[in-house]
Amino acid sequence: MTKLRSVTLNEKTQLLSELPILSGTIGPDVVDIQSLYQQTGMFTYDPGFTSTASCSSSITYIDGEKGILLYRGYPIEQLAEQCTFLEVCYLLLNGELPNADEIVQFESTITMHTMVHDQLTNFFKGFRRDAHPMAIMVAAVGALSAFYHDALDIKSKKDRDLSAIRLIAKVPTIVAMCHKYSTGLPFMYPQNKLSYVENFMRMMQGTPCDDFVPNPTLVKALDRILILHADHEQNASTSTVRLAGSSGANPYACITAGIACLWGAAHGGANEAVLAMLEEIGDVSNIAKFINKAKDKSDPFRLMGFGHRVYKNYDPRAKLMRETCHEVLTELGLHDDKIFKLALELERIALEDEYFIQKKLYPNVDYYSGIVLHALGIPSNMFTAMFAMGRTVGWIAHWDEMIADPEQKIGRPRQLYTGANKRDVPPQHIKRS
Ligand code: SDX
Repeated sequence: MTKLRSVTLNEKTQLLSELPILSGTIGPDVVDIQSLYQQTGMFTYDPGFTSTASCSSSITYIDGEKGILLYRGYPIEQLAEQCTFLEVCYLLLNGELPNADEIVQFESTITMHTMVHDQLTNFFKGFRRDAHPMAIMVAAVGALSAFYHDALDIKSKKDRDLSAIRLIAKVPTIVAMCHKYSTGLPFMYPQNKLSYVENFMRMMQGTPCDDFVPNPTLVKALDRILILHADHEQNASTSTVRLAGSSGANPYACITAGIACLWGAAHGGANEAVLAMLEEIGDVSNIAKFINKAKDKSDPFRLMGFGHRVYKNYDPRAKLMRETCHEVLTELGLHDDKIFKLALELERIALEDEYFIQKKLYPNVDYYSGIVLHALGIPSNMFTAMFAMGRTVGWIAHWDEMIADPEQKIGRPRQLYTGANKRDVPPQHIKRS
């Protein structure tokens, strides 16, 4: 790749004066470059989309410098403290918090869709018992579209709303089935008398042999964890859902694409990787060695749960997750938990280290979530599935917003081609007649 020249200031000013500057409600303005190629014969170049807005959206706003996260304008701190996950689902889907009647109706509708078609259980039987739950989730959620031919018209708002309800309601059931399948224990059917999180915890941890009594502190903690994971504007998996949806694919296929993308260790797979990293560090005395590995450019090791494309200040979710972690460990009498204490010390040391300060690397949402999920009795290979359970509402809200957006068209990025020039196939390869 060769660098031809830089755009000089007056050229740039001239160029930009031809391109509209658009302003949103809050946050950076954008240069509308839709006519750039037509005007200049050039593309923009932005691997990883570090400076590129792929869409306009009114769902979530992040200020990475100030560590601000708003869902439909409400600060995450207030939502996590004052709302339930289903209230936040309603907010993300509809743009406003529900009133007393609306939330009762919404909860009842979700409850009535928590069961999955019984034939879906057959999909599990094709997997080995030690299959990673995310592999099974990709299959099972993708398969949902095979059962719901009745409401796949993406141009119908009614169909889109029903798909959103079905996904929010059924993903927890599928997540719990993934866990039960790996243990050889029977699947648990949802119970309509239980709340969303109580139902999930019973399907995950209950058996047909006992009455499951949910612990209210743990239920509240998990409800908050789902709120913290519900949405995060145009992250990799949400952008994947939008790109898949832009082709007209059905919502189940699009959410499946998001689940697959979330699985990566640089994204939603980080929570599982954080716990593995803490267990590998093992003791406070080893922290310095791992901090040095993370700083060593020749070593691919990164401090999992640290850093973020957008947050160059503390991820507000990490603070709330640390509080929840402490509450759960105290409730369970695990406040002396070795892993939690190791995580606190690693965080303290990293935040005082010049490398992390200079590169603005702070703990992100995944840093403490693994510890609290572990304390809640969730196996580490289920952590990303839990992330997907929380994020399903964000994915489907963005998918719905995109389908309804009059500006939306199939996503089709261009490239900077660095391959071979046009050339002819050598004679020796030309088929002899
Ligand atoms: C999530 O986008 C979202 O909103 C995602 C998410 C959501 O809710 O959807 O918030 C969820 O994915 C959180 C992130 C979970 N991932 C991890 O915890 C994995 C560890 N973190 C890194 O892989 C990394 O920080 C990323 C992927 C999160 C961000 O990567 P960027 O923005 O591409 O930044 P970068 O890789 O260019 O890093 C900038 C510099 C680099 O050094 P230089 O090349 O400039 O010398 O910081 C260094 C990196 O080497 N760096 C790290 C580091 N993260 C970045 N060094 C050590 N340890 C780390 N964790």
